[in-house]
Amino acid sequence: MMRTHRCGELRLEHVDSQVTLTGWVNRRREHGEHLAFVDIRDHSGVTQCVVDNDVDVRAEYVIKVTGTVVARTGDTINSDLPTGEIELKPCEVEILSIAEPPPFPMDQRADDVDEMIRLKHRYVDLRRARMQKNLRVRSQVNASIRSAMVGQDFVEVETPMLMPSTPEGAREFLVPSRQRPGNFYALPQSPQLYKQLLMVGGLDRYFQIARCLRDEDLRADRQYEFMQLDMEMSFVDVDDVLSAAEVGVLDAAEAVTGVRPDSVERMTWHDAMERFGSDKPDLRFGMELIELTPIFASTEFKAFSTAGSIKCIRVEQGADQYGRNKLDGLTDEAKSFGAKGMVWLKVRSGEAGLEFDSPVAKFLSADEIAAIIATTEATEGDLILVIADEWATTCEVLGELRNRIGRPPVSEGPYKYLWVTDFPLFVGVDATTGRPKPGHHAFCQPHPDDLDKLESDPMSVRAQAYDLVLNGWELGSGSIRIHDPKLQRRVFELLGIDEEEADKRFGFFLEPFKYGAPPHGGFAYGIDRLAAILAGEENIREVIAFPKPQSGMDPLTNAPGAVDDGLLEELGIRLLPPAT
Ligand code: AMO
Repeated sequence: MMRTHRCGELRLEHVDSQVTLTGWVNRRREHGEHLAFVDIRDHSGVTQCVVDNDVDVRAEYVIKVTGTVVARTGDTINSDLPTGEIELKPCEVEILSIAEPPPFPMDQRADDVDEMIRLKHRYVDLRRARMQKNLRVRSQVNASIRSAMVGQDFVEVETPMLMPSTPEGAREFLVPSRQRPGNFYALPQSPQLYKQLLMVGGLDRYFQIARCLRDEDLRADRQYEFMQLDMEMSFVDVDDVLSAAEVGVLDAAEAVTGVRPDSVERMTWHDAMERFGSDKPDLRFGMELIELTPIFASTEFKAFSTAGSIKCIRVEQGADQYGRNKLDGLTDEAKSFGAKGMVWLKVRSGEAGLEFDSPVAKFLSADEIAAIIATTEATEGDLILVIADEWATTCEVLGELRNRIGRPPVSEGPYKYLWVTDFPLFVGVDATTGRPKPGHHAFCQPHPDDLDKLESDPMSVRAQAYDLVLNGWELGSGSIRIHDPKLQRRVFELLGIDEEEADKRFGFFLEPFKYGAPPHGGFAYGIDRLAAILAGEENIREVIAFPKPQSGMDPLTNAPGAVDDGLLEELGIRLLPPAT
């Protein structure tokens, strides 16, 4: 046996035992003329060893230490360390590996080290407590959700990584085929098509901890490669999918935090937009949108008289916090989110009661002012921000402003889980085709109550589609799928995809539905996002062993890199000169 204990395990009860520890030299301090303290570290913690100071070990050497556990006395006890009441003495040290000085001090806070240096030497960064904890949180998340799925009779099935390119959704990564030069596989953006075929194949309940790849710009919650808990179920309605999906998420949260979250609240997409101006509302704070439209039914104020929807948010005691510069900044932001402008009203006390300090105060009647104050329940010192536009813009812009002003960091408790249901089947119009664009994807089942409006008023049709939201991050998405080829054709027609085109693009997927497809639906949630929030991190890179930085260039391996001409030749690929 190479070691008898882990470095974080020894306590007073081990005094007088002879033990052997293995690990890295965390720190070395000289102690008088003849002795030195060496702290030995592994993933579990640190133990202080007293060694002869002619033992030549330095930071990050890998060593094996054999010694006797001794109780520390008096002020040599370190109450900050779980092992702080003991030390090893005398010790025999064997060097297992020597080490160059680490690229950054191991006790420096990770935030203070340049991320490119951390990623270039990720194997050293991984030794630190933060990454050790995070990767273990992630492993716990995986274990909990896998056992939650197996416990509910889901069957784990692996689906291919090499698949045909389908022109839907995010940009794909392509893989050239050597045997069929000029042809390409695509890496899966998700196992969506395969999991639906598994339902046609009678699997009944499928799940996979699936790697997905999307060539999109990287952000705090986005990587090229990420993991989903992907699931699909046959003979189910929306409630069945939500209940089954919830179990894994709540089990994982309980395993990591020790507390089972309350059952997940539900809200329709329409209510989420009305109340929070977002399809992924952060419920950790209030500042809900307040309806003002009826107040301005016969207003003289031009900016309000022509708008379809007027709403506001009230920032409690915001009047003094937001000076001119900050308000100009918020106005610019509102415009960047699509608003024509933003009206701000500071609530002050005047001779006749509460009034507004605002550049537009003179355009508002006394009745309008009184009605705004009554509706918003404003008190002196509050700041009211008003947006007037068409309904969706008004809601979305205020939702963004609400987040800008009130939203805490994503991983800060309390954890607020929320199902958002009844998403619209279509959102917006495709600029080139002039046709509606699918809200989620083209295979979502419309809401049964809205089916008769599919052709006459498509934009008002709800889908049986839902998202899971945690602290304002979208954790997952799913829907009940269309299993009836006739209905699928109707939806494709609305999207401007005729039968020939549909066959060309999705033939391999649509053909199987002619052979007996069960009604089915599913869901997928991002494991990186869930693990990051549960680990108390703001960026999913912190819960991924080897992530890509924002540039997409991996400083550890230098990928992506050029390849030999011979390799390209074999694949039938010739490079264009680099674009200038
Ligand atoms: P969707 O595209 O919404 O749905 O993805 C589901 C969840 O995957 C996570 N996710 C990501 N995580 C990290 N980096 C990314 N680039 C990234 N993109 C997505 C998010 C997201 O909510 N097949 C459908 C699901 C279904 O209908 O069953 C799908 O993939 O947490």
